[in-house]
Order: sequence, then C-alpha cells, then structure tokens
Amino acid sequence: QRSLLGLKDISRDEIGAILDRAAHWEAQSEKVVPVLKSKFAVNMFFENSTRTRFSFEMAEKRLGAEVMNFAAAASSVEKGESIYDTVKTLESMGVDAGVIRLKPAGVLQELAKRISIPLINAGDGNNEHPTQALLDLYTMKKKFSELKGLTVSIIGDVKHSRVARSDLWALQKFGAHVQFCAPETMQSPELAQYASYVSMEKALKADVVMMLRVQLERHNEGVFKSSAEYRQQYGLTEERAAKLPEHTMIMHPAPVNRNVEIDDAVVESPKSVIFKQMANGVPIRMAVMERAMG
Ligand code: CP
Repeated sequence: QRSLLGLKDISRDEIGAILDRAAHWEAQSEKVVPVLKSKFAVNMFFENSTRTRFSFEMAEKRLGAEVMNFAAAASSVEKGESIYDTVKTLESMGVDAGVIRLKPAGVLQELAKRISIPLINAGDGNNEHPTQALLDLYTMKKKFSELKGLTVSIIGDVKHSRVARSDLWALQKFGAHVQFCAPETMQSPELAQYASYVSMEKALKADVVMMLRVQLERHNEGVFKSSAEYRQQYGLTEERAAKLPEHTMIMHPAPVNRNVEIDDAVVESPKSVIFKQMANGVPIRMAVMERAMG
C-alpha cells in the first residue's frame, strides 16, 4: 500500500514498474477486472478538474473499487473545516486510499505525515502532478519505445506548471533531455539549474513539443499584452506546426486554451496526441490505484 506524492523522490525502477503495469491494464479486453473489490477509494478535489478526476474514477471502477467523490463546495470545508480534518474524517470512516488535488503547494507533504492511508497526488499547486507525467511518459514510450536520448521541449507557462516539474523529474531519470521555452514572466528561476531555457526556434526542433496551458487563474497581473501577442510569440500556430520535423509529437496536458498556446487546427492534427494522452490516463491511474490499495 503506497502513496504517490510526486516523482522527484521515487526511483526510475518504481516509475518503470507503474508504466509496465499500465501496459498490462491497457491490454485487458475486460472493462472491469475487480482486483480492488471491497476497497474504498475517495477522490477529494479541492480544486477543479475534469480529466484527472474522471480518469481516476474510471480507473477505480474498472478495478472494482467502491468510489466516493468529495466536492469541497458541498462539504463542511465551506463551514471552515480544514483539509486535514476533512481527510482524517474520511480515513476514520474506513476509506482505503485518497486521491487528492490541492491548490496550495506543499500542503500535501505535511498532510501525508499525519494520515495513515495511501494518498495519491492529483495535482498540488505548482509543485507536482505525478499521474499526468506518468501518462505523458507512457504516451512517449508508446511512440518512441525508449525515453533515453529524447529531446522534450516544454513550452509556455513553466512557472505555474506542476506538469512541467513532474515531467522534468521523471524524464531526466530516464535520460531524456528536457528544455524549456517561456516568456520571462512565465519562467521559473529555480528550475533553471535543472534544464535550460531556449528560444522558440530551438524548442521546435525536438522529438516532443509539449505545450502548456497559460494558467490565467494563477497570474496576479497581466503577463502578456494579449492572447494574440502570446500566440504570435509562443503559440504552436498552424504555420509553426507545419515546420516541425516529421517525427515530432505534439502534447498538451489540457485543458487547452485553443488559439492561445496552440491553434485550434493543431489540437487534433496528425502529430498531436492530446486525446491519446487522456486515454492513457486511465491505465496509468489503474496501475497507481492498484499499487496503493492492492
Ligand atoms: N490535465 C489535467 O490535470 O486536467 P484537469 O485539470 O481537467 O484534471
């Protein structure tokens, strides 16, 4: 029974084992294989989600677990109850594992020290989003077989991106070369010691081009003059996409700001695997939930 708080502090072998197990689950023809029968999972989202929340629920149900969904807006959090008391309450009722998304970074680590059930990070602030990075690696491996030696450009709002951080930690463990491209206002100086910031021109000469959502909700002031200006400087426009090397794969964790960081027509273009990433999220989360509760 194991938590998954992030990818920075787990080994390459452990990540590899999750990816291998996800391949096993993807290959299953049966939609439901009840290896987690009689186990109770609770999904606690203190911040909005579509993909992560529903693919965890899908994964848990496909493994036969009983699923409870906690929505902060309809709970005693609205009366001022703390995150710790909320999770402790669900733990005391006999829940076997908790999937949790939190707005502030760092709270999850402290919470995990005081909670006995496995906790799975479904996104904590701008810190980590481990299951997103796992599904990203899984998607890359499916196309390229090997992660070693791949050049992966992560483009856009690096500063606020937990996806960029988890992908960086995991990809480097496998010997991939990660580089960032971002306007100055969206760079994270603390990450500069781990990966270099390159020009858009250089970033587009990569095996994988991962576009990040401009996280307008996390910016305090205007970070660029307009969406049109951002698109012109840092967007994956149709024109730029047409010049990508033949083998380059386009990724985006979604939700997508269409026609800001990526053009509408590029989202579902042949090089894009954005919806494949979402599909791969289910077997990855099956592997993670089995690891937590199996
Ligand atoms: N990629 C991702 O985390 O999407 P959601 O915010 O919809 O879960």
